[in-house]
Amino acid sequence: MDKIEITGGIRLHGEVTISGAKNAVLPIMTAAILSSGENIIKNVPNLRDVMTMGKLLAHLGFGFHLEDNQVLLQTQKVTSIEAPYDFVKTMRASVLVLGPLLARSGKARVSLPGGCAIGARPINLHIKGLEKMGAKITLSEGYIEATAKQLKGAAIYFDIPTVTGTENLMMAAALAKGTTLIENAACEPEVVDLANALISMGADIQGAGTSIIKITGVNKLRPLDYTVIPDRIETATFIAAAAITHGDIKINKCRPEHLEAVINKMKEAGVKITQKNDKLIIKGPERLSSIDIKTMPHPGFPTDMQAQFMAMMAIADGTSLITENIFENRFMHIAELKRMGADLQVEGSTATVKGVKTLTGAPVMATDLRASASLVVAALAAQGITVIDRVYHLDRGYERIENKLSLLGAKIRRIK
Ligand code: EPZ
Repeated sequence: MDKIEITGGIRLHGEVTISGAKNAVLPIMTAAILSSGENIIKNVPNLRDVMTMGKLLAHLGFGFHLEDNQVLLQTQKVTSIEAPYDFVKTMRASVLVLGPLLARSGKARVSLPGGCAIGARPINLHIKGLEKMGAKITLSEGYIEATAKQLKGAAIYFDIPTVTGTENLMMAAALAKGTTLIENAACEPEVVDLANALISMGADIQGAGTSIIKITGVNKLRPLDYTVIPDRIETATFIAAAAITHGDIKINKCRPEHLEAVINKMKEAGVKITQKNDKLIIKGPERLSSIDIKTMPHPGFPTDMQAQFMAMMAIADGTSLITENIFENRFMHIAELKRMGADLQVEGSTATVKGVKTLTGAPVMATDLRASASLVVAALAAQGITVIDRVYHLDRGYERIENKLSLLGAKIRRIK
């Protein structure tokens, strides 16, 4: 397993370019299942998760090719309707083939994802929605077995705004008979990007980005030719890296409008942020001010930035309260940050972060994608050397992070 070694205490400076959004490209790749032909997706980040999704689609019978940040998907023929446990256990987003397979082939056999480091992460709302659209769904031997001769439009209400639940049902509804209404839908920018991709294929979708999405089924969709939005969480992670190192960086090819909650909180913490079209200029303060955050569905503060923000607050001036409202176990980074000298206490879903003068480098272990990003952010500011183990977590969601950080002056190297 690769490790990453970081020597902290260096102020980041220079420019970084943001890659395509992982959580947009994964559902957009499964949207290609809805058409038969040559699909091309651009601005695709070269990530482990993209390769995993590509292998899963190849398993279903599709041609998959990733080169120069473009994905080619030949979807003329479906030869399997099964998403095996081996794929789903390594990447939960594999469940995104469920809706499109049902819409295209009328059946799907998808392994239940099982839990992951940050929580149980059930998919009961995906299943309930598809049943409302006429799918027959049974669970056997850890697999979801779904059939639907013809999906039909339905009114669906989500108890919780689920991102991939909204995406699965939007894709299923695109070819259903009649109109589907999704209420309490997720409003994340990645949901909007999927909707725009589907619309570019000929789907009839209104309201994406709001909590009520209306999809009117069509008979056929044409293949994709679509460019994915930049990754807002990668952008926010680089803001955190500049903020914690008293750095001065320019972030290119980003979408500040996808990050209003994060940018507001960063400014409250003393980070100077100026925006010019698709660029952000970030100046980190001498010392960060401690502020409280609560993670919420978009447009609230994103749960995917909670761990990175906690790393910043660990050396801020004062005490911060960080409340995680989305996942029940997304505090795995706390034990590792404590090894670096952070003063953290957890009470239920709230962590109390008492700012310390400085963190110290230590051998630490990544447990999940954003926890590993938080350890990188902390290591950049810590005195001394930090070695992060199990960085395959990091490679799932960050394209060439050590190259991008070393271009910003960080002292970072990958140990094979
Ligand atoms: C998506 O996961 C993202 N993944 C996650 O990013 C992100 O953290 C999450 O949305 C929240 O923003 C992708 O887009 C591939 P949810 P998802 O369904 O869709 C509960 C990362 O780091 N729920 O919006 O799985 C669930 O348990 C990853 O890139 C149900 O109870 O999240 C959670 O508490 C991590 N039943 C809440 O809803 C369901 O059927 C939100 O989950 C579905 C969800």
